[in-house]
Amino acid sequence: MELAKLAAGDEHYKAYVGPPLKYDLLGALQFTLLCAAGLRSTHKICDIGCGSLRVGKMLIPYLNPGNYYGIEPNQWLIDEAIKEEVGADLVRIKKPQFINDSDFKVGAFNQAFDFCIAQSIFSHSSMAQIEQCLSEVAQSLATDGLFLATFIWGKSDYEGEKWVYPGCVEFKANSIKELAWSKFGLKMQRTNWPHPNGQNWVLFHFPGNETKAEKIAHFNLGQYDSDIEKPKASYSIKGKVISKLSRALKK
Ligand SMILES: C[S@@+](CC[C@H](N)C(=O)[O-])C[C@H]1O[C@@H](n2cnc3c(N)ncnc32)[C@H](O)[C@@H]1O
Repeated sequence: MELAKLAAGDEHYKAYVGPPLKYDLLGALQFTLLCAAGLRSTHKICDIGCGSLRVGKMLIPYLNPGNYYGIEPNQWLIDEAIKEEVGADLVRIKKPQFINDSDFKVGAFNQAFDFCIAQSIFSHSSMAQIEQCLSEVAQSLATDGLFLATFIWGKSDYEGEKWVYPGCVEFKANSIKELAWSKFGLKMQRTNWPHPNGQNWVLFHFPGNETKAEKIAHFNLGQYDSDIEKPKASYSIKGKVISKLSRALKK
Protein backbone atom coordinates (compact mmCIF):
# COMPACT_ATOMS: atom_id res chain seq x y z
CA MET A 1 0.00 0.00 0.00
CA GLU A 2 1.32 3.42 -0.98
CA LEU A 3 1.90 5.55 2.09
CA ALA A 4 0.44 8.64 0.38
CA LYS A 5 -2.93 6.85 0.16
CA LEU A 6 -3.10 6.19 3.90
CA ALA A 7 -4.58 8.54 6.48
CA ALA A 8 -3.48 9.08 10.09
CA GLY A 9 -4.99 6.35 12.25
CA ASP A 10 -5.18 3.72 9.46
CA GLU A 11 -4.08 0.17 10.30
CA HIS A 12 -0.53 0.42 9.00
CA TYR A 13 2.39 0.84 11.42
CA LYS A 14 3.50 4.10 9.76
CA ALA A 15 -0.03 5.52 9.55
CA TYR A 16 -1.56 4.44 12.86
CA VAL A 17 0.71 6.83 14.79
CA GLY A 18 0.09 9.93 12.65
CA PRO A 19 0.32 11.31 9.10
CA PRO A 20 2.36 8.53 7.39
CA LEU A 21 4.43 10.87 5.24
CA LYS A 22 5.69 12.57 8.40
CA TYR A 23 6.71 9.27 10.05
CA ASP A 24 10.47 9.82 9.62
CA LEU A 25 10.29 13.55 10.27
CA LEU A 26 8.58 13.06 13.64
CA GLY A 27 11.14 10.41 14.58
CA ALA A 28 14.10 12.60 13.64
CA LEU A 29 12.59 15.62 15.37
CA GLN A 30 12.19 13.74 18.66
CA PHE A 31 15.71 12.33 18.43
CA THR A 32 17.19 15.78 17.75
CA LEU A 33 15.26 17.37 20.60
CA LEU A 34 16.38 14.70 23.02
CA CYS A 35 20.03 15.17 22.02
CA ALA A 36 19.66 18.95 22.30
CA ALA A 37 18.16 18.44 25.77
CA GLY A 38 21.27 16.53 26.83
CA LEU A 39 20.49 12.89 26.00
CA ARG A 40 23.63 10.81 25.65
CA SER A 41 24.13 7.09 25.00
CA THR A 42 24.65 6.31 28.69
CA HIS A 43 21.22 7.65 29.67
CA LYS A 44 18.06 5.67 30.25
CA ILE A 45 14.84 6.76 28.57
CA CYS A 46 11.23 5.71 28.81
CA ASP A 47 9.22 6.25 25.60
CA ILE A 48 5.60 6.48 26.78
CA GLY A 49 3.22 5.36 24.02
CA CYS A 50 6.19 4.29 21.87
CA GLY A 51 3.89 3.16 19.04
CA SER A 52 5.78 1.86 16.01
CA LEU A 53 9.13 3.09 17.36
CA ARG A 54 9.21 6.30 15.34
CA VAL A 55 11.88 7.61 17.68
CA GLY A 56 12.66 4.17 19.11
CA LYS A 57 14.21 3.07 15.82
CA MET A 58 16.75 5.88 16.24
CA LEU A 59 17.20 5.60 20.00
CA ILE A 60 17.70 1.82 20.15
CA PRO A 61 20.88 1.79 17.98
CA TYR A 62 22.19 4.96 19.64
CA LEU A 63 21.76 4.12 23.32
CA ASN A 64 23.90 1.67 25.24
CA PRO A 65 22.34 -1.77 25.71
CA GLY A 66 19.48 -1.85 28.19
CA ASN A 67 18.79 1.90 28.10
CA TYR A 68 15.61 2.07 25.97
CA TYR A 69 12.23 1.29 27.56
CA GLY A 70 8.91 1.51 25.72
CA ILE A 71 5.31 1.41 26.90
CA GLU A 72 2.65 0.70 24.30
CA PRO A 73 -0.80 -0.95 24.54
CA ASN A 74 -0.77 -2.06 20.87
CA GLN A 75 1.85 -4.81 20.62
CA TRP A 76 1.31 -5.10 16.84
CA LEU A 77 2.92 -1.66 16.38
CA ILE A 78 6.10 -2.77 18.17
CA ASP A 79 6.16 -6.08 16.28
CA GLU A 80 5.83 -4.38 12.89
CA ALA A 81 8.47 -1.79 13.78
CA ILE A 82 10.93 -4.51 14.81
CA LYS A 83 10.20 -6.48 11.64
CA GLU A 84 10.31 -3.55 9.21
CA GLU A 85 12.58 -0.95 10.82
CA VAL A 86 14.78 -2.11 13.69
CA GLY A 87 15.55 -5.78 13.03
CA ALA A 88 15.85 -8.69 15.42
CA ASP A 89 19.67 -8.47 15.58
CA LEU A 90 19.59 -4.96 17.00
CA VAL A 91 16.98 -6.01 19.54
CA ARG A 92 19.27 -8.85 20.63
CA ILE A 93 22.29 -6.53 20.91
CA LYS A 94 20.62 -3.46 22.46
CA LYS A 95 18.05 -5.23 24.64
CA PRO A 96 15.21 -2.70 24.55
CA GLN A 97 12.43 -3.51 27.00
CA PHE A 98 8.73 -3.14 26.32
CA ILE A 99 5.51 -3.47 28.24
CA ASN A 100 1.98 -3.53 26.88
CA ASP A 101 0.06 -1.21 29.10
CA SER A 102 -2.51 1.56 28.88
CA ASP A 103 -2.00 2.87 32.45
CA PHE A 104 1.38 4.54 31.86
CA LYS A 105 3.19 2.08 34.16
CA VAL A 106 6.62 3.71 33.99
CA GLY A 107 7.34 2.35 37.48
CA ALA A 108 7.03 -1.23 36.23
CA PHE A 109 10.54 -0.95 34.80
CA ASN A 110 11.98 -0.13 38.24
CA GLN A 111 14.44 2.40 36.82
CA ALA A 112 15.41 6.02 37.52
CA PHE A 113 15.00 7.57 34.09
CA ASP A 114 17.18 10.41 32.82
CA PHE A 115 14.51 11.15 30.22
CA CYS A 116 10.89 10.30 29.60
CA ILE A 117 9.10 11.30 26.42
CA ALA A 118 5.41 11.30 25.47
CA GLN A 119 5.00 12.54 21.90
CA SER A 120 1.39 12.93 20.77
CA ILE A 121 0.03 11.10 23.80
CA PHE A 122 -1.55 13.94 25.82
CA SER A 123 -3.14 15.22 22.62
CA HIS A 124 -5.42 12.14 22.90
CA SER A 125 -5.66 11.65 26.67
CA SER A 126 -8.21 12.55 29.32
CA MET A 127 -7.15 14.72 32.28
CA ALA A 128 -7.28 11.61 34.50
CA GLN A 129 -4.88 9.82 32.14
CA ILE A 130 -2.49 12.79 32.15
CA GLU A 131 -2.63 12.79 35.94
CA GLN A 132 -1.90 9.06 36.04
CA CYS A 133 1.04 9.48 33.68
CA LEU A 134 2.52 12.42 35.63
CA SER A 135 2.17 10.43 38.82
CA GLU A 136 4.10 7.51 37.31
CA VAL A 137 6.78 9.75 35.84
CA ALA A 138 7.25 11.68 39.09
CA GLN A 139 8.08 8.41 40.84
CA SER A 140 10.56 7.19 38.22
CA LEU A 141 12.28 10.33 36.94
CA ALA A 142 15.81 11.03 38.20
CA THR A 143 16.03 14.18 40.32
CA ASP A 144 17.85 15.83 37.41
CA GLY A 145 15.79 14.08 34.74
CA LEU A 146 13.53 15.63 32.12
CA PHE A 147 10.11 14.62 30.85
CA LEU A 148 9.46 15.91 27.31
CA ALA A 149 5.82 15.92 26.23
CA THR A 150 3.55 17.44 23.61
CA PHE A 151 0.16 19.08 24.06
CA ILE A 152 -2.34 20.95 21.97
CA TRP A 153 -3.19 24.11 23.88
CA GLY A 154 -6.74 25.41 23.87
CA LYS A 155 -9.03 27.84 25.65
CA SER A 156 -10.66 25.09 27.73
CA ASP A 157 -9.79 21.62 29.02
CA TYR A 158 -11.07 18.43 27.40
CA GLU A 159 -13.52 17.13 29.98
CA GLY A 160 -14.17 13.66 28.57
CA GLU A 161 -13.01 10.57 30.42
CA LYS A 162 -11.80 8.56 27.47
CA TRP A 163 -8.76 8.37 25.19
CA VAL A 164 -9.68 10.01 21.85
CA TYR A 165 -8.13 8.59 18.67
CA PRO A 166 -7.22 9.49 15.97
CA GLY A 167 -8.97 12.75 16.86
CA CYS A 168 -7.24 15.17 19.22
CA VAL A 169 -8.06 16.96 22.46
CA GLU A 170 -6.93 20.27 23.95
CA PHE A 171 -5.98 21.56 27.38
CA LYS A 172 -5.16 24.93 28.86
CA ALA A 173 -1.43 25.24 29.53
CA ASN A 174 -2.12 26.64 33.00
CA SER A 175 -4.29 23.66 33.97
CA ILE A 176 -1.48 21.24 33.16
CA LYS A 177 1.16 23.41 34.83
CA GLU A 178 -0.93 23.62 38.00
CA LEU A 179 -1.68 19.89 38.03
CA ALA A 180 1.97 18.91 37.62
CA TRP A 181 3.16 21.24 40.36
CA SER A 182 0.39 20.91 42.94
CA LYS A 183 0.07 17.12 42.82
CA PHE A 184 3.50 15.89 41.79
CA GLY A 185 6.03 18.66 42.50
CA LEU A 186 6.97 18.84 38.83
CA LYS A 187 7.61 22.19 37.21
CA MET A 188 6.43 22.74 33.66
CA GLN A 189 8.55 24.74 31.24
CA ARG A 190 7.04 25.69 27.87
CA THR A 191 9.46 25.63 24.92
CA ASN A 192 9.74 27.05 21.44
CA TRP A 193 10.75 23.75 19.86
CA PRO A 194 9.01 23.17 16.52
CA HIS A 195 6.38 20.52 15.79
CA PRO A 196 5.11 19.77 12.27
CA ASN A 197 1.54 19.08 13.47
CA GLY A 198 1.12 22.21 15.56
CA GLN A 199 1.63 20.54 18.93
CA ASN A 200 3.56 22.26 21.72
CA TRP A 201 6.58 20.78 23.47
CA VAL A 202 6.97 21.20 27.21
CA LEU A 203 9.54 20.02 29.74
CA PHE A 204 8.60 18.74 33.18
CA HIS A 205 11.34 18.66 35.81
CA PHE A 206 11.89 18.73 39.55
CA PRO A 207 12.88 22.02 41.27
CA GLY A 208 16.57 22.81 41.02
CA ASN A 209 16.70 22.30 37.26
CA GLU A 210 15.10 25.60 36.25
CA THR A 211 18.19 27.13 34.64
CA LYS A 212 18.85 24.06 32.55
CA ALA A 213 15.19 23.79 31.53
CA GLU A 214 15.11 27.46 30.55
CA LYS A 215 18.21 27.04 28.38
CA ILE A 216 16.79 23.96 26.69
CA ALA A 217 13.44 25.66 26.13
CA HIS A 218 15.15 28.39 24.13
CA PHE A 219 17.72 26.08 22.59
CA ASN A 220 19.81 27.62 19.87
CA LEU A 221 22.42 25.39 18.24
CA GLY A 222 24.38 28.46 17.20
CA GLN A 223 24.82 29.35 20.87
CA TYR A 224 25.33 25.84 22.17
CA ASP A 225 25.84 25.72 25.92
CA SER A 226 27.44 22.56 27.29
CA ASP A 227 25.77 23.16 30.69
CA ILE A 228 22.81 21.38 29.16
CA GLU A 229 24.85 18.25 28.60
CA LYS A 230 25.01 16.25 31.74
CA PRO A 231 22.30 16.04 34.26
CA LYS A 232 23.70 16.18 37.80
CA ALA A 233 24.55 12.92 39.48
CA SER A 234 21.76 12.12 41.89
CA TYR A 235 18.94 9.74 41.24
CA SER A 236 15.47 9.49 42.71
CA ILE A 237 13.82 6.13 42.93
CA LYS A 238 10.30 6.05 44.36
CA GLY A 239 10.96 9.19 46.39
CA LYS A 240 14.33 8.13 47.82
CA VAL A 241 17.39 10.07 46.76
CA ILE A 242 20.46 7.95 46.16
CA SER A 243 23.68 9.83 45.52
CA LYS A 244 25.95 8.54 42.81
CA LEU A 245 28.74 9.93 44.95
CA SER A 246 28.75 6.85 47.17
CA ARG A 247 29.38 4.70 44.11
CA ALA A 248 32.13 7.01 42.90
CA LEU A 249 33.85 6.88 46.30
CA LYS A 250 33.99 3.10 46.18
CA LYS A 251 35.87 3.17 42.85
C1 LIG B 1 -0.10 9.46 18.02
S1 LIG B 1 0.60 7.93 18.47
C2 LIG B 1 2.23 8.46 18.96
C3 LIG B 1 3.21 7.32 19.04
C4 LIG B 1 4.65 7.73 19.33
N1 LIG B 1 4.79 8.45 20.57
C5 LIG B 1 5.22 8.50 18.18
O1 LIG B 1 5.66 9.63 18.33
O2 LIG B 1 5.23 7.93 17.09
C6 LIG B 1 -0.19 7.54 20.01
C7 LIG B 1 0.24 6.20 20.58
O3 LIG B 1 -0.28 6.06 21.90
C8 LIG B 1 -0.68 4.72 22.06
N2 LIG B 1 -1.63 4.65 23.19
C9 LIG B 1 -2.96 4.52 23.19
N3 LIG B 1 -3.46 4.53 24.44
C10 LIG B 1 -2.40 4.66 25.25
C11 LIG B 1 -2.25 4.70 26.67
N4 LIG B 1 -3.29 4.65 27.48
N5 LIG B 1 -1.00 4.81 27.15
C12 LIG B 1 0.07 4.90 26.34
N6 LIG B 1 -0.03 4.87 24.98
C13 LIG B 1 -1.24 4.75 24.45
C14 LIG B 1 -1.27 4.35 20.72
O4 LIG B 1 -1.36 2.96 20.55
C15 LIG B 1 -0.25 5.00 19.80
O5 LIG B 1 0.83 4.16 19.53
